[in-house]
Amino acid sequence: MIKVLTYGTFDLLHHGHIRLLERSRALGDHLTVAVSTDQFNLGKGKMCAYTYEERVHILKAVRYVDEVIPEESWEQKINDVKDNDIDIFVIGDDWEGEFDFLKEYCEVLYLPRTPDISTTQVKEKLANNSRWNT
Ligand code: CTP
Repeated sequence: MIKVLTYGTFDLLHHGHIRLLERSRALGDHLTVAVSTDQFNLGKGKMCAYTYEERVHILKAVRYVDEVIPEESWEQKINDVKDNDIDIFVIGDDWEGEFDFLKEYCEVLYLPRTPDISTTQVKEKLANNSRWNT
């Protein structure tokens, strides 16, 4: 059983998120998603459209996701990898190199981000009252 772990906020779930989750799950047999709590995001100055509970609910409905755990701090990753018997840590390549310290505990992979989509972009489009494809 190969276990995979990824982290993120996953607000306003979009196809870039889904592609990341699909590729992550395909690396193994079980995908755990650590979802940033509202409290943790506040500390980063980040405000979500959807609450933590809503984001968890949505992610649990995604076929590629087997388990969801809270991300409450920057420091929890080593313990998460150990406690969940993780074989592969994976995240988008906007984080390239940032989590290489986990290589002592598991494989670390940075997947290419899907171009031209992010939660920030969706929010900007909505704020401008424009359609996504126009
Ligand atoms: N991700 C991706 N491709 C995108 C957007 C996100 O592969 N186009 C990945 C990120 O690299 C990360 C995960 O999805 O591994 C969760 O990213 P998150 O920060 O929640 O999404 P963003 O859309 O980048 O959100 P924001 O604009 O708020 O930074």
